[in-house]
Amino acid sequence: MTFRIALVGCGGMGRRHAHGYIELRKYFDTVEMTAVCDVHHDVASTVADEISDATGFRPDIYTDFDDLLTNADLDGVAIVTSTPLHHIFALKAMNAGLHVITEKPMGLTLKACRQMREVAQSTGKVLAVAENYRRDPMNRLTCALIQSGAIGTPYFTLDIGLSSSNGAVMHSTVWRAKKEQAGGMPLDAGVHNADMLLYLMGGAETVFAETSIFEPIRTLRSMDEVAPGLTQMYSHRKEDGYALGDKVEQTAVDSAFGVIKFKSGAIGQLMLTDTSHGQRLGVSTISGSEGTLYRSRSRSGESPRIVRSNGTEITGDELLELVPDFELDDTISRLWNGARRISSYDMDFRDIDSKILAYEYLDMLDAADSGGQSEVGPQEGMDALALAYALMESGVSGVPVNVEDVAEGRISAFQDEIDTEMGI
Ligand SMILES: NC(=O)c1ccc[n+]([C@@H]2O[C@H](COP(=O)([O-])OP(=O)(O)OC[C@H]3O[C@@H](n4cnc5c(N)ncnc54)[C@H](O)[C@@H]3O)[C@@H](O)[C@H]2O)c1
Repeated sequence: MTFRIALVGCGGMGRRHAHGYIELRKYFDTVEMTAVCDVHHDVASTVADEISDATGFRPDIYTDFDDLLTNADLDGVAIVTSTPLHHIFALKAMNAGLHVITEKPMGLTLKACRQMREVAQSTGKVLAVAENYRRDPMNRLTCALIQSGAIGTPYFTLDIGLSSSNGAVMHSTVWRAKKEQAGGMPLDAGVHNADMLLYLMGGAETVFAETSIFEPIRTLRSMDEVAPGLTQMYSHRKEDGYALGDKVEQTAVDSAFGVIKFKSGAIGQLMLTDTSHGQRLGVSTISGSEGTLYRSRSRSGESPRIVRSNGTEITGDELLELVPDFELDDTISRLWNGARRISSYDMDFRDIDSKILAYEYLDMLDAADSGGQSEVGPQEGMDALALAYALMESGVSGVPVNVEDVAEGRISAFQDEIDTEMGI
C-alpha cells in the first residue's frame, strides 16, 4: 500500500523535505506526497512544481490546514511550519486518524510536547520527529565506536558552537529571534546538539547554565548575506510584516554556556552562541579512558577520528577494525548506494540532506506499518527538547536543574511565559 502524505509548511525546510521526498522516490514507491500546504499559495506552488518536475505528479495545493484535513485523502502529514504550530497541527492530525512526522523541535515547549505524547498514546498514531543529525552514517559510526568501547569509558564531552550572525536575524527568519516562537540559536539549533549528546552519551541528569541575550536588537538581512549556503532553499519563502533592513527585537536567548551531568557520571560542556564576532569555533569531542573521539561535522561525510594519549591517530577505514559488527541498516544502505561499512563519503550537501530526510519518512512508515515507534519518537523528541530548555531554565533560576523535572513540567519558569502567551 502507498502511504499518502501531505507536506505542511513549504518554507526553507519544507523545500528540503520536498527534495527528500524526490530522493525517496528514486528508490522506493511506498510513499506518495499527494498534497502540499502553506498559507502562501505561491510558496506552496513553488514546491509543488519542483515535485511535479521531478516525479511527474503534482501534489494538490492547500492554504488552510483544516481544509487539508477535511478534504485530502491522507495517511499522514509532515509538519514543517515554524515551531509554534507543530503541536497544534500534530494534535489535530492524530485526532483525525493520521500519522505525523514533525520537524524538530518536537513542540513549542515541553507542555506542548506532553500534550502531543498523550494524544499519540491515546490514538495509537505514530508521532515521529524529523531529527536528522543522528541518521548521518558518520554519526551511526561514531555511536558504534563509543558503544564498542573504542575510547574506553567516556569521561567528558565538549560541544562548542561559536558563530556570528553579524548582528542580523539568524537565518533571515524573524520567528527565530522570538522567545515565544522557540527561537534563539541555543534552542532552535541547540536541540540538534542536545539530541546528538543524548544519542552518544546516554541520558542527562542535571544542567547548570548561564544564558544571555547579548544582541537584543538585530537587523533583518537577506539570506545571501546571512547564510549564503541556504539561499537556494529559502529564496521562495515569505514572512509577512517584515522587510529587509528592518530592526527586529531579539527576545530569544542568543547565548548559552552550560555544564551537563550525564546519568553515566560523564560531564558535558555545551556552549552555543551566534554572537561570537571574529571567533568561529566548532568543537565536538568525547574523551574517555582510552583516548579522544573527534566527531565529524554532521552531513559533511568526513570521517571521525580517534586520538590515543600517545598521539596515535586512527581515522578512515582503520576505524572499521574497531567495530567489526558495525553495519548501516538496509534502508540507509539503499539510499547510500549500497554502502554497508563506510568510514566517510563524498556527496553534495543537498544530496546528503535529501537522503537523510528520505530516511526519516521511511522510518516513520516502518513504525506505522509495524505499529511501533519511530527511532526519534515522542520520548526522544522530548528528551532532546528538555535538555535544550534545561539550559534556559537554569539560566533564569541561577541553579542547576534536573532535566527530567524540565521534561515533566516540574520546572518551567522560562517556558511559562511562552505557554501563557501562546495560550497552551
Ligand atoms: N532539521 C533541520 O535541520 C531543520 C532546519 C531548518 C528548520 N527546521 C525546522 O523546520 C521548521 C520550519 O523552519 P523553516 O526554516 O522552514 O521556517 P520557514 O519560516 O522558512 O518556513 C515555515 C513555513 O510555514 C508556513 N506556515 C506558517 N503558518 C502556516 C499555517 N498556518 N499553515 C501552513 N503553513 C504555514 C510559512 O508560510 C512558511 O512557508 C521549524 O520548526 C524549524 O525548527 C529544521
